[in-house]
Amino acid sequence: MTEAHSKWPRAGDGYEPLGTAEILGRNGATLRLKVGATTVEIAALAEDLFRVGAFPHGKSVEYDSEAVAKTAWDPIEVSVAEQAGNLSLSTSKATARISLNPLRIRFSDPSGRVFAADDERLGMGFAGRDEPAIGLCAPEAVVRVYKRRGRGERYFGCGERTGGLEKTGSRPLFWNIDPPAGHAPSFNNLYVSIPFVFSLQEGAAHGLLFDNTHRAVFDLARTNADLSCFEATGGNLIYYVFCGPTPRAVLARYTELTGRIPMPPLWALGNQQSRWSYRDEPHVRRVAREFRDRDIPCDVIHLDIDYMDGYRVFTWDRDRFPNPKTLISELRKDGFRVVAIVDPGVKVDEDYPVYTEGRDKDFYCQTFEGEEYRNTVWPGLCAFPDFTGRRVREWWGRHHAALLDAGVAGIWCDMNEPALGIPERATMPPDVVHPGDGKPRLHRQVHNLYGTLMARAAHEGIRRLRPQSRPFVLTRSGYAGVQRHALLWTGDNSSWWEHLAMALPQLQNLGLSGAAWAGVDIGGFYDDCNGELLARFTEFGVFQPFCRNHSAKGTIPQEPWAFGEPCQSVCRKMIQLRMRLIPYLYTLFEECHRTGAPILRPLLFEYPDDPTSDAMDDQFLLGSALLVAPVTRPGVEYRYVYLPAGTWFHYWTGERFDGPAHILAHAPLGQPALYVKANTPLPLGPSMSHTGERPIDPLTLLIYPAEGRGEFALYEDAGDGFGYRKGAYARRSISCETGDGVTIRLGAREGTFVPERREIRLELPGMPSIGGVKINGETFDRYRSDGDRLVLRLSEQAGAATVEVCFGSAG
Ligand code: NOJ
Repeated sequence: MTEAHSKWPRAGDGYEPLGTAEILGRNGATLRLKVGATTVEIAALAEDLFRVGAFPHGKSVEYDSEAVAKTAWDPIEVSVAEQAGNLSLSTSKATARISLNPLRIRFSDPSGRVFAADDERLGMGFAGRDEPAIGLCAPEAVVRVYKRRGRGERYFGCGERTGGLEKTGSRPLFWNIDPPAGHAPSFNNLYVSIPFVFSLQEGAAHGLLFDNTHRAVFDLARTNADLSCFEATGGNLIYYVFCGPTPRAVLARYTELTGRIPMPPLWALGNQQSRWSYRDEPHVRRVAREFRDRDIPCDVIHLDIDYMDGYRVFTWDRDRFPNPKTLISELRKDGFRVVAIVDPGVKVDEDYPVYTEGRDKDFYCQTFEGEEYRNTVWPGLCAFPDFTGRRVREWWGRHHAALLDAGVAGIWCDMNEPALGIPERATMPPDVVHPGDGKPRLHRQVHNLYGTLMARAAHEGIRRLRPQSRPFVLTRSGYAGVQRHALLWTGDNSSWWEHLAMALPQLQNLGLSGAAWAGVDIGGFYDDCNGELLARFTEFGVFQPFCRNHSAKGTIPQEPWAFGEPCQSVCRKMIQLRMRLIPYLYTLFEECHRTGAPILRPLLFEYPDDPTSDAMDDQFLLGSALLVAPVTRPGVEYRYVYLPAGTWFHYWTGERFDGPAHILAHAPLGQPALYVKANTPLPLGPSMSHTGERPIDPLTLLIYPAEGRGEFALYEDAGDGFGYRKGAYARRSISCETGDGVTIRLGAREGTFVPERREIRLELPGMPSIGGVKINGETFDRYRSDGDRLVLRLSEQAGAATVEVCFGSAG
């Protein structure tokens, strides 16, 4: 035993690694083994995706999971070899190597890279015993797998977390809670549990999803620098290995397995405003008016809990909101959508039909003794729907009609850890029973699913109620796979500089965990904000996939105008920039929806071979063309920025930088450090007050030429509905190659969607002198030089076009 090994408690908690395995057989790409009463399966689901399942104590093989969206995989070619007590299961891209005595599994690829290798001594196994014969309250064994940490392996992802981007040396806990205010790095679990770790090892990436909804803990080389451990307090031991080797490949496969974000309605990319609460109709109208009068774009107003009648879900307070339908339709004419909050707690009230209906149908969670389980939330005593039941989810989904009929555009699922009042900030006791669909389970077995299932009920309900529209469901809590039902916001941050800084790694790790459509409350939720903090928060916040300013009851107002100048102008300018970025953002959303690539991404996603950028979390990329380095301290106007390989241009001044380089950026208020990658066309729309404004012209392609080549494929569609699934979209690749001159190639438009505009405007900064321009080989003289910017207008057409720009002789 090496010194390092001895750091692990061996027998203290009764942990027994699995011993010698016997081969039971093979079914296609699945090998079945037996170790005593434990069945073990190793399956190749795709060339770069393996699944391992261990089912202890005679339990049946069962992979059903809310995390998993795809269960039927096309058969792939595998080869199985057996040699001297070892088995291997190989695809064209990777091999699972299985030693039988004792049973240990590791993975490798043709390059010789070994990853996710079981620790030889500790492997996988169980502590304690399952007693399935006893029934619902049977004790369950702790399930655990120990993996060697690869040379230089660094861990990321792990869903919604505090602290920095890199999780090496941490011990993340997966157990959804409503944490106390002031999320500190020591808070080891928040509202969301995504037990997925993304590893980077010498430039190669792999991932591991530990699919278990019990309380789970990872030890990521914390106790022992050479080992990691993945464990849960019950259930089966099921994990998936994503072989990579690129970050893109890991995320593509992870999101193929667990599902991808839906296409958002275009309006959801606009700026959103919230407050706990805009208490009544005049207040809501006032806020909407302010946005328009002050020329600050806004698409969405959120209604927090005070719109309800005594906090009864799916009702309206008719004193404060006498006619929600009229209010919402008038707001809609002015370009606003309304999102309304829904909590899972249903007020116990005999005169409240939602409650009595749920009770009469036995739709609520129960105590172990079979009584309705009750606890307090905003309305006082509540019962809690058992969302593990399909009929319950359908019933809950139907009730959203009370909101949708009034014109509400989206649903905000809150408090769904669930968060309970007794004792303060509690969640459900572990022995609460979820009757489910005839297969009751204890809360401790399904706790981490409660938020996901509530969001799923809302999403599916909206799909049924409004089949022509793309659902907008925002959730606070969730489990792996939640991204297919809802977007996330990161709950109750505070108006602190520290929380502005924390938002960056938090969103980057969510992006590396499949939950890319996410955002933090701009300005911070708890505590009083101030002008400088709100301005800096907004400078960052407009680059989030979900851009919403929200704040708590009792704090001072935090709308973009609340602190006067210069904050208001900074917010206006940044939100206007967000609106201009919508064509770019929408393309990134579609890429994420189609491939799982995060929208807001860490540098390591694009530059995995660059060790300087690996753990860098105080800056990030939006897509691959924009690098954002926010200021996250007060009184600071300068900050260092790392520009990875390639040429970058400062967005505000056009200054050129050649990476890799550490530079000092001047970033006064209103001018955050923002860089555009050379030759990569950045599509920009007009500055609009809301996305629905749809001015026909223009679309600008902003391109900073520098020797080399870049490209971008612009995606557009109707912005709502599902026509895009039948080909009603437009995709056009645009490349720029710079050498002796600049050649821009617009590919032919793919898809049947025809954008309404008439023109595409090419804007090329840094071109002080032009020798001439040709379009499709013909001389073109209708260009304009605006300072050192060349501006060309092309007519929008379906076909391809080539624009050649010759440099003139300078001076
Ligand atoms: C808790 C949520 O996190 C917060 O955003 C909301 O404002 C309050 N609940 C009140 O509904």
